[in-house]
Amino acid sequence: MSIRIIGTGSALPERCVTNDDLAKLMDTSDEWIRERTGIGSRYLSTGETVAYLAGKACERALENAGKEAEEVELLLAATCSPEMALPCTACQIQAQIGAGGAAAFDLNAACAGFLFALHTAYAYIEAGIYKNALIVGAEVLSKLMDWTDRGTCILFGDGAGAVFVEKCGESGILGFSQHSDGARGGVLSCAARGLHNPYFKDASEGGFVRMDGREVFAFAVRQVPAAISEALEKARLRPEDVDLYVLHQANKRIIEGIAKRLGVGPEKFPINLDRVGNTSSAAIPLLLDELNGAGRLRRGMTVALSGFGAGLTYGACVLKW
Ligand code: ACO
Repeated sequence: MSIRIIGTGSALPERCVTNDDLAKLMDTSDEWIRERTGIGSRYLSTGETVAYLAGKACERALENAGKEAEEVELLLAATCSPEMALPCTACQIQAQIGAGGAAAFDLNAACAGFLFALHTAYAYIEAGIYKNALIVGAEVLSKLMDWTDRGTCILFGDGAGAVFVEKCGESGILGFSQHSDGARGGVLSCAARGLHNPYFKDASEGGFVRMDGREVFAFAVRQVPAAISEALEKARLRPEDVDLYVLHQANKRIIEGIAKRLGVGPEKFPINLDRVGNTSSAAIPLLLDELNGAGRLRRGMTVALSGFGAGLTYGACVLKW
């Protein structure tokens, strides 16, 4: 028994912000951002919430799968930028789309969140607990950015992507890897609201995303190829056997570095970060939906997914589309 992705969906805020738009707000340029990251524009929320974008992506994934919301048994939302600490985003989505029969909860593994949620759904379905799952990655990271930190705020965009998966007889997921390195968590972090009770007062109201860009770059280029190789080994496949590599869209140079280390041509690594930036946990399902809509994902293809981000968290999944 395994799981197969049978529907995809996505949602972006209305407002598209180009590098030139950002250059009007801070000392940067289209040339600098494109050269260092490959990003040309991103969508930023002008009021759209994580729950709203996630709900839209979920509705579209269900429609694409030909399923009704009442059929969903497990609803997992991966996000690190929820509006509410309680109730969780997945429960808000559940109410929004009418998936009353689902068990719904959130999972936060930052940019690897969608991948970890997919593996969680796989474990539940493989164990025979549920037959299907709706999995969404959604972020409005623009609210966690320090808009005076030009080295970080230019990278990220807001958006959501979702997939509907269900039990299948043949092998859908062929192999996966999943790792965390909490000892190196300081290289990419964002503080939550501080302790404030009758006995202790922490002045912190919550912070902004802080990142050591070079360390993150080095981590991604070193660890991600190893995580993909591990998943491939479990699937008894070689890097060249994979038809498409759908990677977390952090930075074009990171993706090129990973392709080089795997010895695979860049044409197998589709990219949309030039248009949407780094959307953290939404990046993989957003790109999957784009590829699906363009007819680039055909049944029987071998696809490798890989997510990596704050935590540090990272992993890969090799599956039959
Ligand atoms: N525009 C113009 N100049 C800038 C900008 C900007 N937006 N940002 C920084 N600079 C300047 C710096 O001030 C510095 O100037 P100085 O030499 O006068 O001091 C110079 O450019 C070089 O800065 P660096 O930070 O050393 O630039 P670097 O080449 O390392 O590129 C970058 C920075 C793009 C962030 C790179 O480190 C990177 O891509 N890291 C990966 C980070 C990443 O992808 N994070 C995503 C989140 S994590 C995830 O999703 C996995």
